[in-house]
Amino acid sequence: MGKTEIIDDCERAARALRQGAIVAFPTETVYGLAVDATNSSAVKRLFAAKGRPADNPLIVHLTSKDEWPLAASHMTQSATLLLEQFSPGPLTVVVPKRSEISPLVTAELDSVGIRIPDHAIARRLLELCQIPIAAPSANRSGRPSCTTWQSVLEDLDGRIDYIVPGEVCDVGIESTVVDCTTDLPVILRFGKISAEAIQRIFPQVAVANQQTELSERLKTSPGTRHPHYQPQARVVLFESMSQLTELDIAKSDKSAIVTFQLDGSRKTDVNWNRFGLVRHFSAVDDYAREFYEVLRQTDRLELKVIYLQLADMQGLGTALRDRQLRAAGYVEK
Ligand code: TXA
Ligand code: MG
Repeated sequence: MGKTEIIDDCERAARALRQGAIVAFPTETVYGLAVDATNSSAVKRLFAAKGRPADNPLIVHLTSKDEWPLAASHMTQSATLLLEQFSPGPLTVVVPKRSEISPLVTAELDSVGIRIPDHAIARRLLELCQIPIAAPSANRSGRPSCTTWQSVLEDLDGRIDYIVPGEVCDVGIESTVVDCTTDLPVILRFGKISAEAIQRIFPQVAVANQQTELSERLKTSPGTRHPHYQPQARVVLFESMSQLTELDIAKSDKSAIVTFQLDGSRKTDVNWNRFGLVRHFSAVDDYAREFYEVLRQTDRLELKVIYLQLADMQGLGTALRDRQLRAAGYVEK
């Protein structure tokens, strides 16, 4: 493959997609890497470009919830309710798969993840294509996801055909994934659509990674087992500033630090100038939006350690905390 081309022209990108090209594009969560979900050879090239394990299924993106017949054999009641409530938006529902979707997309599973993105460029591209588009996050497998087109280029230059550039992604972390193949939905991945919001519709909703009896289901979402979101730098997590030892802070010139205080207060006796990169957040939305880019910036600066203050387990914080734990190498067995 030649060089990756940056193109603003969605019509050209859509034509290329219909002919089997790989095209990165912005969504409201993170950048995606689009390919025709019915074209197995294109899907195969996509897995190779990302270095993605073949057992990790891709999400199919559609322009509207009414287009589900392009990807699913039928809709379940729970999927219909969730899409009515939260689409377009940062939600993926897993439903029974339609046979025209390449088995490579779904890692041979009989279910498929469907998402209706809420982003002008993503929607325009999908409308122009008129085909189901499989799209994983647009990063090398295992690395932090990309929220800027420049980061997509950094990871995938020469490995994909086109990038349609957009602004920085607004949410910053990936969609909430909910298994809707049975009556009782199960949250497989936390995201911007919070567990609390889903519980308001399904008070009994389960969370796969907190319930051992659901470990079988987790196996059907294998993406959760592989290493994810990891920078080169070693990630050290802390709940509060008092957990960072004097020793940590003394050796900090090759380190990055990210603090998160809802009241905006900062420990004043720390010499922040010693760190190679310092970020303070006081709103969880801002922290989530910039999270992956801070990890990437740490690597660009060749810093060896990043100290990350954990987000609280509520709303978007639950999703951010999940990504923080994975960035530090914690993966469920
Ligand atoms: O926000 C997002 O979802 C972004 C943007 C580009 O839309 N996409 C994204 O894709 O994060 P990816 O491939 O990085 O993550 C897809 C997740 C994985 O955890 C995968 O295991 C799960 O969705 N998934 C996809 N299809 C599934 C299925 N049939 N059953 C269970 N889990 C599935
Ligand atoms: Mg991903």
